[in-house]
Amino acid sequence: PFPVYDVLQKESPVRFDIERNCWDVFLYEDVDYVLKKHELFSSEQRRMVERENLLRMDPPRHKQMRDLVNKAFTPKAINDLAPRIKEITAELLDEVGESGEMNMIADFAMPLPVIVIADLLGVPPEDREKFKVWSDTLVKGVVENKPEAFAAVEKEQVQARDELRDYLADVLELRRKEPHDDIMSALLAAEIDGTKLTDSEILEFSMLLLAAGNETTTNLITNGVRILTEMPHLQKEVAKNLALVPTMVEEVLRYYPPVQAPSRIAKEDVILRDQLIKKGDAVVAWVAAANRDEAKFSDPHSFIVNRKPNQHLTFGKGIHFCLGAPLARLEAKVAFEELLTRFHHLNVKKDALIERTQAPQMYGVVEYPVTFK
Ligand code: HEM
Repeated sequence: PFPVYDVLQKESPVRFDIERNCWDVFLYEDVDYVLKKHELFSSEQRRMVERENLLRMDPPRHKQMRDLVNKAFTPKAINDLAPRIKEITAELLDEVGESGEMNMIADFAMPLPVIVIADLLGVPPEDREKFKVWSDTLVKGVVENKPEAFAAVEKEQVQARDELRDYLADVLELRRKEPHDDIMSALLAAEIDGTKLTDSEILEFSMLLLAAGNETTTNLITNGVRILTEMPHLQKEVAKNLALVPTMVEEVLRYYPPVQAPSRIAKEDVILRDQLIKKGDAVVAWVAAANRDEAKFSDPHSFIVNRKPNQHLTFGKGIHFCLGAPLARLEAKVAFEELLTRFHHLNVKKDALIERTQAPQMYGVVEYPVTFK
């Protein structure tokens, strides 16, 4: 998709797509503006499928809820997870064994964030398998582009969501009686000006963590592995000097952003680069294009492992800035350090079929089989 963004940026930086019935915005400056200006661009969507969801809230409700969950989701709370993330990473990679082959996604990049979030929420280890099946179902793409296929997956997903919600409601009851050191207990305790979260808000938020944190982190890790296999010299360089991992993670985020384009609804008429965006119109902010804008990044199509500064927009901007960014960064850092320490000559498996995942707003591949020494 990336060369196309270049052309679009130059020829029609703000354009209306009749087929999709929305505006597309491609320049860094404009994407930054759309995300920052929540007074003009709302996150509340026209189709409120179901729930009270932080990501889909506007102020003032957004601020109240965000302040509350911030109390549970502090950078320190996340940093304290480092040893546990290392342990989980090591367990997963131990299981891969010595065969010299693995499926990067199924064996590693998918289970890692699921287990971390399960832990964070307070799901006991013996229930992990159950939990993983639910969350896999929830993020499952539809392989065949047929109405029956969509209907079947949707039915499965509705059922999985209900079961998961019931399960989390039980965990919540247990934590109410006996708090642990986990997010669920912290959310039960959090209060601002005497206001607490309702049970239903805690459950919705927990489900949001799964929806927002799993596929994105899976894609971040896999997209990084793709780059390492595409650039063997880079792989050697980073393996020799693991201190490069943090800036490498930032560059992976910029170069292959797992979320390509958050969207908004215009709250009033807005003029952007001479185009009139009308109140109620949908606006798609192409972060993936902004991250390659040469007005902001020098040599934007090159992967520069120690790029500084690197103000990519991959975690969004403004009030909805990704709550899980410190967690995603930490998981990716630990994952790459461990992968590069254990495995040498990571390579994509010969003749492997590499397909992009379905959802156009995400950027990842379905499976990534690799070989290593
Ligand atoms: C919001 C990206 C990982 C939880 C966002 C937004 C983006 C994003 C772009 C803002 C969307 C918008 O403005 O409409 C990513 C990427 C990730 C990642 C690229 C991984 C590489 C995570 C993780 C978690 C998480 C691991 C939690 C465990 C959230 C939440 C919000 C959010 C709760 C909503 C914040 C709000 O609306 O105030 N994320 N995310 N994300 N993310 Fe992430």
